[in-house]
Amino acid sequence: MAIRNIRKNGDEILRVKCKPVREINDGVRRLVEDMFETMYAADGVGLAAPQIGIVRQIVVIDDREGGKFALINPVITKAEGEQESCEGCLSLPGYRGTVKRPQKVAVEALDPDGNKLELEAESYLAVILCHEIDHLSGILYKDKVKLSYIPEVLVYMSHGGTSTNSLGAYVESMLEGHRALKENGVHFAWFTDLCRVFRVLSQFVTARGE
Ligand code: NI
Repeated sequence: MAIRNIRKNGDEILRVKCKPVREINDGVRRLVEDMFETMYAADGVGLAAPQIGIVRQIVVIDDREGGKFALINPVITKAEGEQESCEGCLSLPGYRGTVKRPQKVAVEALDPDGNKLELEAESYLAVILCHEIDHLSGILYKDKVKLSYIPEVLVYMSHGGTSTNSLGAYVESMLEGHRALKENGVHFAWFTDLCRVFRVLSQFVTARGE
């Protein structure tokens, strides 16, 4: 097993329409294991193959509430109702956004042994399924955001960030996310300034030997 590099917003591979998996073999099963390991290392609840540079229709999901799946060639066969979800994405660090999703979905897929899988999910798990399956069509949640992005640093501050090192790393990831948004025509000048202040502060505290 190995932790793979997660591709970030701006990487064209995230926009590719993935091909179905034709043959489920040991290579696919190893890939699924790597995807789970990569997802857990990044503290995510889902990961799609294009996020690690593989343009095949594979997603892994673990909602930490018993909903753990590896889905090969998944298709949403039914979608009902509507809910608003606050989503983030490992490929778009530093941001969250509100997206309208179905309340309930049915999905057909193959499992890593090649068995047909039919599942129904609602609420949070339905959101994760929709988000991950969108990745396979080159769709990112930000394409569907109805309300504005929320700078995650505000969430971080409300939790009372403790380590200056992690704050520095956090600000870097925020800036990365913000740069990606700027490329797409979204720009909050105040936010860039806020990040600069945090970056300087975190360097100052680190330099004092913490
Ligand atoms: Ni994602």
